Parts: sequence; C-alpha cells; structure tokens
Amino acid sequence: MPSADSVCYLNGEYQALSQCQVSVLDRGFIFGDGVYEVIPVYGRRVFRADAHLARLSRSLNAVGITNPCSGDGWLALARELIARNAQDDQCIYIQVTRGVARRDHAFPQGIEPTVFMMSFPFPHLPVAKRAGGVACITAPDLRWRNGHIKSTSLLGNVLARQLSAEVDAAETILIREGWLTEASASNVWIVRNGRLCAPLRDRDKLEGIRVSLLEELSQEVGIPLEFRPIAEWELRCADEILLTSATKEVLSVTTLDQRTVSDGQPGVVSQALYAAYQKAKGEQSV
Ligand code: PDD
Repeated sequence: MPSADSVCYLNGEYQALSQCQVSVLDRGFIFGDGVYEVIPVYGRRVFRADAHLARLSRSLNAVGITNPCSGDGWLALARELIARNAQDDQCIYIQVTRGVARRDHAFPQGIEPTVFMMSFPFPHLPVAKRAGGVACITAPDLRWRNGHIKSTSLLGNVLARQLSAEVDAAETILIREGWLTEASASNVWIVRNGRLCAPLRDRDKLEGIRVSLLEELSQEVGIPLEFRPIAEWELRCADEILLTSATKEVLSVTTLDQRTVSDGQPGVVSQALYAAYQKAKGEQSV
C-alpha cells in the first residue's frame, strides 16, 4: 500500500500523498462518479501501457467524462510518478472523477474532471503462498449490470471481497444466476479436460487487461482456450481454477469453498501460464 510519504499527482501537481486533498464536494466522494485504472510497473517500466490507457479511455467514454489526457500524456505523467517514487516494481493508480460541483445527480456543466494518480509498491505475493495456491469462496454476484466499466463505484465489489477477507481467503468468486462472472477484483478462468475456459466478455464483467494477454500466452504455450458461459457446477468440478489481475498476475486457486481443487496443488496450466507471464513482463514493459 502507498506509504504516507509517497509522491502522488493531483490536478497538475506532484505532492506528498499525506498532504494531498480533494474537496468533499468532489463527485467521486459524493457519488462514486469516476473511473480508475491500476497499471503494473516492473523495473520502472509500464506493463501493457497501451491496453490499460485504452481501457481508461473506454471507461471515461462510457460515463461521459472527457478524457483529460492523450495516451502519451498519461504515459508521461505515469513515468514522472514512477521516477518520483522509490520502488522499482510499482502499481500506478489513476482515478478520474467528474469533478467538484454542488450536489445534484445530473451531470453538472462546465466543470473540470479531478485527475488523481498515486503509486504503491507492487504487492508481490510471498513465494510460498504462490507455490501453494490460494483459497477462494463463492458468493452471489449482486453488483450492477455495468461491470465492464472500471468505475470507482465499487461498493458491490467491496462487500463481496469482505466475505472472503473474513475467512482469510484470497478472493470471492461471483456467481450470477448459476453462471460464473468474475471475482471481486480479478478475472476467473477454469481448466477442464486440458482446455482453458473463460466466461464470455460482456457488460457484466470487467475485461481485464490480462484477458487478451492470456489469449496470447495460451497460444504461446499451446493450451486451447475457449470463451463461453461457465456454469457454477463446472467451476466446482474444474481441474484448475485461476485468477488474473494486475496485482495477482496469474494465481492458482487450490481451495474453493473449503474443498480442494483437484489435488490441492497449482496445476500444469496455471504454472505454464504463470511462467509465460513472467517472460512477457520483461518483453512488454515500456
Ligand atoms: N482490479 N475484474 C475486476 C472486478 C477487477 O477489479 C479487476 C482488477 C479485474 C482484472 O483486471 P486487470 O487484469 O486489468 O487487472 C477483473 C484491480 C487490480 C483493482 O481494482 O485493484
């Protein structure tokens, strides 16, 4: 997590995170009216920058906020922030809200978006934890139907994640009407009969940047991949379950709702994809 003395960026100025303040009338605070990105940085280089910035642009467009920066502009801000912070491996958090205005649900006219960026050290998982895989639980997906927008309105995700935090599990995997959607802050994949399967890309879930990346990596390592609806029962009898996100990378789930997945060890597909991911980090960071 960011230390209080890390350097952040707010509306054109770099400053200490502990000193950084926004108005209580900011619509991000009042309504959760904003969007965000979390971008991994390895060895001070930004991983899959273009894809993250393209998704930021799509999220802004989806909620009617004008993108305050060009792709190159965002990258320049990110690079400056990386340089001003201590760690080589970081995560850059970008948040853009609609801005500060008198409270009224409808979009106010003529205000500037609030642009906030911070850096936190990349939360590398301890080697032993990764080697054993993680535990997850399931819960009904009670979130809104615009999960494809990376919105800061995350109460549904927060409540879902809390359920797993309370039982010391790594994630809450979400089920909507009998079908797998995603997890509170990750995408979910299963392996059945040697095939990697992911739920369809649609409005109910966020298309993680690692979704298209795993599409590439699965080809590279020769694992067939299909995007299709995944029923809850298939999740429960999967040979392997994987999580992906900017911070988890590729992470094997070895326990689901207190029952072991296969033999309770990370499977061959997740291991192969994790190894390919590590290689891609070196090749695709700019
Ligand atoms: N979360 N689905 C949800 C709901 C997410 O919040 C995330 C990422 C993902 C995976 O997306 P990506 O591969 O682009 O990280 C899927 C970030 C890391 C977060 O909120 O901290």
